Amino acid sequence: MAHTDTEVLQPLQSIQSRRAFCVRTCQALSLLTVGAVLEACGGGSGSPTAPSGLAAQALPVINATAASNNVSLTIDSSSPLSAVGSAALVQTSAGSFLVAHVAQDSFTALTAICTHLTCFITGYANQTFVCPCHGSEFSTNGAVVRGPAVAPLRQYATQFANGVLTVTI
Ligand code: FES
Repeated sequence: MAHTDTEVLQPLQSIQSRRAFCVRTCQALSLLTVGAVLEACGGGSGSPTAPSGLAAQALPVINATAASNNVSLTIDSSSPLSAVGSAALVQTSAGSFLVAHVAQDSFTALTAICTHLTCFITGYANQTFVCPCHGSEFSTNGAVVRGPAVAPLRQYATQFANGVLTVTI
């Protein structure tokens, strides 16, 4: 018995639409799973919030060059580090550093890699660096203010002269 085109095509279209449904459903479930994992890891979007309730602001990012084990930064009035109390994430080819302007002509520089599980520290609130992953907090000299981290952040020597901050790495 001969089948018409419509009789043949309808089951095919039905199979294709079921396949498309399955593909879409699987994609949606994958995205939900990724979102849940990111949320569980604390890697979701938005400002990092520390367990202490500090509403950390994202640190401003400064790009700088590293040469001969030194990172040099010009601190002028337009720099995110110009004011006492400010802080920034300084990115270089030799790594990323947390720099804080702690007093007139005085700065501290720390590694930006958290000592808990090596996340990049990107938040800052009330003179405290805040890790976005599990909320560890560090003072501007690297001491642990709040866990889960237990080890301090490595600190680097700094010099400030003629408007130029030099970090020895
Ligand atoms: S990696 Fe866990 S608090 Fe920073």
